[in-house]
Amino acid sequence: MSVGVIVGIQWGDEGKGKVVDYLTQNAQYVVRFQGGNNAGHTVVVDGKKFALRLIPSGILRENVCCLLASSVVVNPWAFLSEIADIEKTGIEIKPNRLKLAPEVQLILPYHQAIDEARENQRGAKKIGTTRKGIGPAYEDSVGRHGIRVCDLFDQAKLRALVERNIKHAKEYCSKVLETNFDINAQEQIEQLLQIAQKLRPFVCDVSRELTAAIAAKKTIVFEGAQGTLLDVAHGTYPFVTSSHTIAPEACVSAGIGTKSIDYVLGISKAYCTRVGGGPFPTEEMGKTGDQIRTTGNEFGTVTGRPRRCGWIDLPLLRRAIRLNGVDSILLTKLDVLTGIDILKVATHYEYQGRTMVEPDWDTDLEKVQVVYEEFLGWKEDISKATSLFDLPVNAQTYLQKIEQYMGCSLSGFSIGPERSQTIVYSNHVREIFGLTK
Ligand code: GDP
Ligand code: IMO
Ligand code: MG
Repeated sequence: MSVGVIVGIQWGDEGKGKVVDYLTQNAQYVVRFQGGNNAGHTVVVDGKKFALRLIPSGILRENVCCLLASSVVVNPWAFLSEIADIEKTGIEIKPNRLKLAPEVQLILPYHQAIDEARENQRGAKKIGTTRKGIGPAYEDSVGRHGIRVCDLFDQAKLRALVERNIKHAKEYCSKVLETNFDINAQEQIEQLLQIAQKLRPFVCDVSRELTAAIAAKKTIVFEGAQGTLLDVAHGTYPFVTSSHTIAPEACVSAGIGTKSIDYVLGISKAYCTRVGGGPFPTEEMGKTGDQIRTTGNEFGTVTGRPRRCGWIDLPLLRRAIRLNGVDSILLTKLDVLTGIDILKVATHYEYQGRTMVEPDWDTDLEKVQVVYEEFLGWKEDISKATSLFDLPVNAQTYLQKIEQYMGCSLSGFSIGPERSQTIVYSNHVREIFGLTK
């Protein structure tokens, strides 16, 4: 079968988890390749809601093996408690169902303390991070003093690293961030040595496992976290996360070479949301924004924060399609637009006297004038649609125009949070993921 990457092409929360769950009905592997428990992927199966953070959404499919590849950052306590929470629902998680790359960097309590203190110090200029310690953990990784899963199994090395990092973190916090935290290095080491025993059975050479799986023609789905516009290099910097969220990172993180990817599926909402600070050209501050937030239940899975809501932004989507090499797009949450009289689609920007179909590197997204095309909405309930042709004509037109203006084909859409409320009508995509339902 094939290797597909599912990637968010907005600012996250596009419904990646739900789509991954749907696409893995006959898959063998689901791989998270970046980010950590800043992600919140909600999947609803037969009315039962699962909020996944670190564990790939494939865990809900019995025959799927879930992998965390090297560029993921793992808070070991969060990892173990998420396993325990999932097991409470009756799903058994044995090490043959969940594997962890030894190169994975750990998020430790001092990373969280720094994230928190920095955000507090930034005040009104804060990034609006999830305060899970994501940024500081990636900083330690590229700074070459991070603590990896494999370091847990070398006591002397672990001791030296923990002592060094806690000392540095304390100094940095007190001198620069003007705050103190109370973490004892010796206690931390003892806790980590205990955790090491619990993590050991999950450790696996992800690169080798996947290389063998690819050779055996298994179906492998990479589950992106966050979204393209939050990519640390290509996103709306500095209002981004600290990892590469775009599709090529799947290869880097998993160690599988760049030719292994057969398909990149981009996920976008039928509108747009963002949590935290940063530019959002199509943001709707008024009643319509509130309506989308309420109907779409746009409140963060991880932090509970209300998500900022607005219209679909084609200039930014065109950029995201290029950055990821997106083959087709699945549009989620179309049902949320039901009942809105006039729908708006941002087709291009006016900026400094120029018309732009995509922002340039020096375009200030806070200052662009957004040009919209308006479409008539629909009032019919679309949540039970099973094909494109079940949709009211206005909804069909809305999808067709987005597809045409975006310059990338739509392969499906979704009309509710349930597993069954996803429609993939592209035969090519159905074949790639081996879909039978
Ligand atoms: P992710 O981070 O990309 O996996 O997305 P989230 O799970 O954070 O946010 C998507 C939210 O929308 C979740 O609560 C999903 O259950 C829900 N959802 C996904 N697809 C649809 C859809 O088509 N319609 C509606 N109404 N809700 C959806
Ligand atoms: P999923 O996978 C939406 C945002 C935060 C903040 C910025 C940096 O559910 O789509 P971080 O804690 O990563 O340093 O925060 O990134 N952010 C997300 N927004 N969905 C996510 O994940 C996000 N993960 C991080 O709100 O603006
Ligand atoms: Mg989410």
